[in-house]
Amino acid sequence: MAELHPACAPLAFLLGTWQGAGTGVYPTIEDFSYAEEVSFTHVGKPFVAYVQKTKDAGTGLPLHSEAGFLRPQPDGRVELVLAQPSGVAEVLEGTVEGRDIQLSSTAVLGTDSAKPVAATERRLWVDGEVLHSSVAMAAMGLEIQHHVVSEMYRLS
Ligand code: HEM
Repeated sequence: MAELHPACAPLAFLLGTWQGAGTGVYPTIEDFSYAEEVSFTHVGKPFVAYVQKTKDAGTGLPLHSEAGFLRPQPDGRVELVLAQPSGVAEVLEGTVEGRDIQLSSTAVLGTDSAKPVAATERRLWVDGEVLHSSVAMAAMGLEIQHHVVSEMYRLS
């Protein structure tokens, strides 16, 4: 296995696969609950690859998924590029402080058929054994507000 690129050291706390559960809300939709799995891997280069899948907590049917790359930068900064099968692509910039990553979008683009998303804010933080993930979004013409939050435990 490749050695971790030194630039990725601040993100090493994420590496591995995590599983757990979350809940989602938005003014335009019914509340929902989901199961989530995320994995963070590296290949020795100065980025960490991220893959996420979610399933409806009741039916087990696939919900949202996304994949992208965390790109650590000097001085505690981090970039994230992400693509989603809903036709949305996000570019975010933020900070990593200890085991807490906070990001805000600098660009969100959608395909012609994608639902409108103007901005996102994300936080990924580990507290004890638990990885927390949350997303707020300005979508469907609304102000930025909370959409999903989850708690996951390390599988590997
Ligand atoms: C754990 C992550 C997420 C889960 C489980 C999730 C799940 C859902 C569900 C179940 C719905 C309602 C049904 C549907 O339209 O498919 C929904 C709606 C939506 N989600 Fe998410 N979502 C997640 C993350 C995101 C992210 C990151 C974005 C944007 C970048 C996003 C944007 C939207 C939009 C635009 C809608 C449509 C709202 C509407 O039709 O009024 N979601 N999401």
